[in-house]
Amino acid sequence: MAEQAAGESAREIAVDALSENQAQAELARLAELLAQANRAYHTEDAPEISDAEYDSLKRRNLEIEERFPELKREDSPSEQVGSALAEGFGKIRHAQRMMSLSNAFDDDEVRSFDRGIRRYLGLDDAAPLPFTAEPKIDGLSLSLRYENGVLIQAATRGDGATGENVTANARTIDDIPQQLDGAPELLEVRGEVYMSHADFESLNQRQEARGGKPFANPRNAAAGSLRQLDPEITRARPLKFFAYAWGELSAPLAETQMGAIQRLAALGFQTNPLTRLCDGPQEMLDHYASIEEQRATLGYDIDGVVYKVNDLALQARLGFRSTTPRWAIAHKFPAELAWTRLEAIDIQVGRTGALSPVARLTPVTVGGVVVSNATLHNEDYIAGRDASGTPIRDGKDIRVGDWVQVYRAGDVIPKIADVDLSKRPDDAVPYAFPETCPECGSEAIREEGDAVRRCSGGLICPAQAVEKLKHFVSRAAFDIEGLGAKQVDQFYRDGWVSEPAEIFTLRERYGSGLQQLKNREGWGEKSAKNLFDAIDEKRKIELGRVIFSLGIRHVGEVVANDLARHYLGWQALISAVDTARPAAERYRRAEQAVEAERMAAKAEGRRARLKEIRDAAWAEDPAVSPEARAAWDDLVGVDGIGQIVAVSLVTSLGQEAERASIDRLIAQLNEIEAPERPATEGSPVAGKTVVFTGSLEKMTRAEAKARAEALGAKVSGSVSKKTDIVVAGPGAGSKEAKAKELGVELMDEDAWLALIGG
Ligand code: IVH
Repeated sequence: MAEQAAGESAREIAVDALSENQAQAELARLAELLAQANRAYHTEDAPEISDAEYDSLKRRNLEIEERFPELKREDSPSEQVGSALAEGFGKIRHAQRMMSLSNAFDDDEVRSFDRGIRRYLGLDDAAPLPFTAEPKIDGLSLSLRYENGVLIQAATRGDGATGENVTANARTIDDIPQQLDGAPELLEVRGEVYMSHADFESLNQRQEARGGKPFANPRNAAAGSLRQLDPEITRARPLKFFAYAWGELSAPLAETQMGAIQRLAALGFQTNPLTRLCDGPQEMLDHYASIEEQRATLGYDIDGVVYKVNDLALQARLGFRSTTPRWAIAHKFPAELAWTRLEAIDIQVGRTGALSPVARLTPVTVGGVVVSNATLHNEDYIAGRDASGTPIRDGKDIRVGDWVQVYRAGDVIPKIADVDLSKRPDDAVPYAFPETCPECGSEAIREEGDAVRRCSGGLICPAQAVEKLKHFVSRAAFDIEGLGAKQVDQFYRDGWVSEPAEIFTLRERYGSGLQQLKNREGWGEKSAKNLFDAIDEKRKIELGRVIFSLGIRHVGEVVANDLARHYLGWQALISAVDTARPAAERYRRAEQAVEAERMAAKAEGRRARLKEIRDAAWAEDPAVSPEARAAWDDLVGVDGIGQIVAVSLVTSLGQEAERASIDRLIAQLNEIEAPERPATEGSPVAGKTVVFTGSLEKMTRAEAKARAEALGAKVSGSVSKKTDIVVAGPGAGSKEAKAKELGVELMDEDAWLALIGG
């Protein structure tokens, strides 16, 4: 009653004259009014107040919250930057996984979707099986959690299991109600955040007017806008939301998909007006055709039509595969295509020397995006064949001057699908793929079995050197604050840094004296000092990062960390690799002999004698010492490391110039940290080398490895004298035999679990 009285009078009072009681009542009144205004505007299509009035209510609400921050409501119509920042993008585990959809690309696949469901449910052809059909919105999915009708959390899809907490940002989207009337106590609403074409155009105009980079398409704009740390920025971006599904619920919304969508609409959500109930595949395909016809004039991007079994009890029976429901499918529109002229083919040289052909095109719009470059993959692709020599595009090659068909599928780099031979200029000649590197002139070699031609210039090739430097400073490598791709480019161009070690001598060379970093354009006293300090900070660094930073082919982040865990120190790794080198070279020669035999056998139409050839090649070279052989076996036995990775590692650390450059880098570092050993006191398997083989039934291979490592064991992929335990499941073959031969302790999965305590 007191609150009522306070409320009655509060609305007339200036914000700075409000008492605390009055402020509280006023905030409640404003929350209710604004929620009602949103409902009226969006669901009843009948705004009750003007935009100006709406804005002034929102402003008043914000001012009161600013004066009485402790009174800010959970369902506040506005959001404060501070609170959102504190919230950051924490992770939210979805109470129920957010699923994706399997795809159908033609009418037959839609019909077989219907047949498959009938088979699964044991329904004959005559039994009714209605589906809903609705546009597939090209935005990003969002899960909204309401408790007692109040929005308490919004999370992006993430990997399906865990998403990002974007609650503060979601609250700024007008299509998302803050409060629901008559909703189940617990309700998770799922749908798509998107941006209309008109809003996208004007956002891009604003972006460009203030010198920002325009967004490539509405989906990127929507994603970029939702994932802003400052909700005020999200608020200024006109995002929209369609509800089409749900997650956890305390009570069912309806008995059918269509009923549930209607219920969501009644609760105040936007649902797609093109959602239809269809009695079977023919009606679904008809509706697909009708949606496709309207696609260009809808005013927002869609990329297909989603069909869902209408009966929710049947949906429950059908359930899910690992990441997709059995009861729904997305019928995708064909990829967007356009024809244009191929003006030139440029060759880009990457970090590992790969020569990648890039098509330069007369700019053309493909699905709303202007495309002027496309990938041409490799020389075989240009020549009209795949890696095994089989023709693609009916064997048509691609020539400069050709009329080519470009397509984009999803977010990927544009590709060339086809060539129109009738438009080929008379003077067009087959493209001669360069056999020397366009950047440094070194020979570009294509090795047996490699689809890619590579520059052999190594560090003398400027393109490789600069790409290697960029890799060196990247996030999973040295990650030096203030030193990104742009700075690396500049330093390299000006001759300040030509290899990683020189990053660490920058202070010495350009911290004082005639030429100084702080005097360069774009730098100052403070930023120069910050950079030097950030570089010094990385003189102490983890081993895995050092290995990854070298940019060795096939040695990615995961392999680098596997190596670090196995060797535990730079010196141990490098001496193992050096010791193993003769064996690695013999392996390479043996594989070459095997490859030659394979080709010869194919040409002569006989069976290849691969094992014989391989054994002979290994046997013939007495120069490989038992130590070399043991070091090689140990290296290829590191779990996750195969022979190809091992050869790449051994070879690149054996190249003289490359190795000298690495040694110079190592000399600049103060401490290379071994990976942290798990606390393994009392562990029965600490320090032991374990091999898992055969199929495991109580856990996955990845899980078994993770648990063993957590207990301080080393997990290896091959059995040798160094192996302590072999855990063999059903179907274990040669590894089990080898364990017996070497007298290594052998146990089954249950015995292993008993050993490690369950
Ligand atoms: S239903 C359990 N309906 O498409 C089924 N998804 O490729 C949940 N999407 O992650 C999805 N429009 O982001 C559904 N009308 C629609 C959709 C839709 C767009 C998105 C959604 C999903 C992705 C799967």
